Order: sequence, then structure tokens, then C-alpha cells
Amino acid sequence: MQNTDHSPRDGFGSKIGTIAAVAGSAVGLGNIWRFPYITGENGGAAFILVYVFIVLFIGIPVMLSEFTIGRRAQRNAFGAFRLLAPRRPWYLVGVMGIAAAFMILAFYSTVAGWTFEYLRLSLVNGFKGKSPEELNALFENFYTGGWRPVIWQVVVMLLTGGILLAGVRKGIEKYTKILMPMLLVLLVILAIRSITLPGAMQGLNFLFRPDFSKIDASTILEALGQAFFSMSIGMGTIITYGSYIRKKDRLSETAFSVAGADLAVALLAGIAILPAVFAFGIAPSEGPGLVFITLPNIFQHMPGGYFWALMFFTLLIIAALTSTISVMEVVVAFISEEFSLRRRYATIIATIGVTFLGVLCTLSQGPYPQFSLFGRNLFDLMNFSTANIMLPTGGLFIVIFVGWFLGRKNVRDEISNGGTMKVRLFNIFLFLVRFIAPLAIAMVFLNGLGILKL
Ligand code: TRP
Repeated sequence: MQNTDHSPRDGFGSKIGTIAAVAGSAVGLGNIWRFPYITGENGGAAFILVYVFIVLFIGIPVMLSEFTIGRRAQRNAFGAFRLLAPRRPWYLVGVMGIAAAFMILAFYSTVAGWTFEYLRLSLVNGFKGKSPEELNALFENFYTGGWRPVIWQVVVMLLTGGILLAGVRKGIEKYTKILMPMLLVLLVILAIRSITLPGAMQGLNFLFRPDFSKIDASTILEALGQAFFSMSIGMGTIITYGSYIRKKDRLSETAFSVAGADLAVALLAGIAILPAVFAFGIAPSEGPGLVFITLPNIFQHMPGGYFWALMFFTLLIIAALTSTISVMEVVVAFISEEFSLRRRYATIIATIGVTFLGVLCTLSQGPYPQFSLFGRNLFDLMNFSTANIMLPTGGLFIVIFVGWFLGRKNVRDEISNGGTMKVRLFNIFLFLVRFIAPLAIAMVFLNGLGILKL
């Protein structure tokens, strides 16, 4: 497990770079593609309210726990557990995290690939004059088409691998520091455009006026899954990134900033998308096709739609890439540290492995529906089971580990940077991590899957 080239371990070089990188991981297709359609399918404002509670009382404690594990151990997600809990089975949480990284990337890179095709279509003005049915057919034919989505997916994986080859500071940090501000500017412009459309009020009502009759056990499980997915927690991305945070930076501050940015972007994406959906009289519960069918339809009816489309799909690509690199980094750090391989080789191996599974996933959407399990094709299976099962399970073990195993003194020491700074709310954090978060996750989980009936 030692460093093969005897150089100090790579890591983030600045506070702002750290926040850009972690926020870059959190802010992604989960916020801009997944959040609006999941919110649409689950009734809107009441769902969002549940979501915000989960972020505050479960999401932030899990994120801070992951930072603590990662920075304490200075290791990848698997090695961290092995180091902090030698000869104990905790490393299995790391194993599950590595598996989840493969599974998430498999379907995530598919969707990331779609965004490239849609940027291409926007460039050649490919939505112009198409009816909603035609746009629907365009999307269906494209994603079930076989080779074209596969090619874009490979492009995504190569770009991801390319950034990672450059390392943590010169790769991840450097690119996210440029891309994240761009993303924010684009999104704010789009949101302003959307709320100034005639008829946008209805969309805002849908987002902000809660109807509690829409809430049931499966809605709450969806909110939990969405929060974990959106915050990149529960599988070791944040452990890995945490291991790159400088010892003098404040973990709690980073967790709050990132959680705030992630929530803000999800809400902004909702504001950018749902009012436009209502303004053009489209059902918000469109599902995964929402941004790929509904939005092109809307863009072509808007003045300047050509540019709005370009802007939106550029935004999606940025969001996707700063997240794919973070998931892949989990695998790269694992391979290079645990097998003492140079980063370059680890990156190449990870890219090839992940691309292979990803291509199967993409093909399961179209030409090879026989690539399926438990009655879902691979794509749906990975999307559902990672967010709603593996991440909450990982998160549950992570909070139990930090709350009950790592030791109060160690946790306090790490969060207070070796006692050099005051940590306010430490007891609240510990209480959340020991009792509230594990109980809440376990209950939502068992209830949502129908194992426990509340
Ligand atoms: N959070 C990202 C998004 O919202 C996706 C992502 C990156 C992720 N790393 C992760 C999801 C780790 C789960 C676990 O798009």
C-alpha cells in the first residue's frame, strides 16, 4: 500500500479548489436531469420539502462522516476502512462502494452520452419544426439505436479518463475550478428565462406549494435515494475526495458549502425546467425523457431557442463530466493504491472496465433487451438499485462506523483539525450520526421497499 514513486500523495491545493471539486461531484445529472423528473413524478413541492429535511438531517451528517473517514485515513474508500479497522469486516463497505462506482458509471455515462448527442443536434438545429411526437420518436430511436449512444458513451469515458490521467490537483481540481462557475452562470440565465415565460406561475406553484396527500412510503424512499445520489454520498466518492482535503481546511464548512450548492442547483434546475414545462402545457411526470423530449420541444417555440438549447446541453455536459470524474476517481484511487500501480495504468484499467459495463447497459436499452435482471433492463436496474438500495446501505454503515466505531476522540480530532479550531454543533453532529441518521435511513429503507409497514 505504499507510494510506488515516493512522491507525497496528490491532493487538492486550495480551499476554493476543494469546494469546486466536491461540488463538481455533487452537482450533476442528478440535479439537472434526475431531480426535475423525480420531483415531477412525485408530486412536486411536498416531495421537495421531504427532500430538504433529508439533506439536512441525513445527507450532511453522512457527507461529514465520509470526509472524516477519508481525511483521517489518507486512503481510497476501500483502503480507508482497512486502515482504520484492521482485521474487521468494515472493508466490505469499501467493496460495495467500488461496485457501486462501476454500476453508477455504467448508466450515468449512457445519459452523459445522450447530452453530447443533444448538443450536436442543437448545433445543427435538429429540433426545428418537429412536432412533440416527432421529438419523442427522435429520442426513442436515438437511445434505443445501438451504436450511436455507444459511441458517445465511449467519448464520455475517454474524456473522463483523460482528465483523471492528469491527477488530482492538475486534473480534477484544475478543470472543476473552471467548469463549475460556468455551470452556475448558464443555469441562472436559464432559470431567469424560464420564470419570465407567460404561464410560468403554475410551474412555480408546483415546485413550491406542497400537497401532502402526495407523500407516501415510496415517495420518501425516492427522496432519500435522490438525496444520496445528488450529494454523491454512500459509496466512497466523498471518502476519496476527503482524503485529498488539506489538513488545515474545515471539513464541516466544506460539507455545508457543498450541500448548499447542490441543493441550490437542484432547485434552480427545477426552476429552469418546470415552469417552462407548464408554460407549454406538458405533463411534469414525463420521466427520464423530460429534459430530452420536453425541453427541445420548448426550445424550438422560444425566441432565441437555438441558443437556449446550446446553452442548456452545454450545461448538462459540464455537470456530467465533473461528476463522472469523481465516480471514476473512486476506482482509480482504489486500483492504484491497493495494487501499487502507477496512476496512469490504474486510470487506463478503470476506464476500460467501466466502459465495458457501460456499453452493456446502453445496449440493454435498445438492441439487446435480454441484458436484464429482476424484470428491469440493466439501465433501469442500475439506476434504481444504486440510488435507492446501495447508497442508503453504504450511508447507513458509514454513519454507524463514525458514530460507534471510530471513537468520539478521533472524530472530534479530525473535525477540529487536531483541536486547532473550535467545532460548534459537534454534539449535535454526533447525535445525528449515532441515532437519527441510522434510524431514519433504516426506517425509510425498509418501509420504502415494503419490508416494514408503517
Ligand atoms: N452526484 C452526482 C449527480 O448528482 C452523481 C455522482 C457523482 C454520484 N458521484 C457519485 C452519485 C457518487 C452517487 C455516488 O449527478
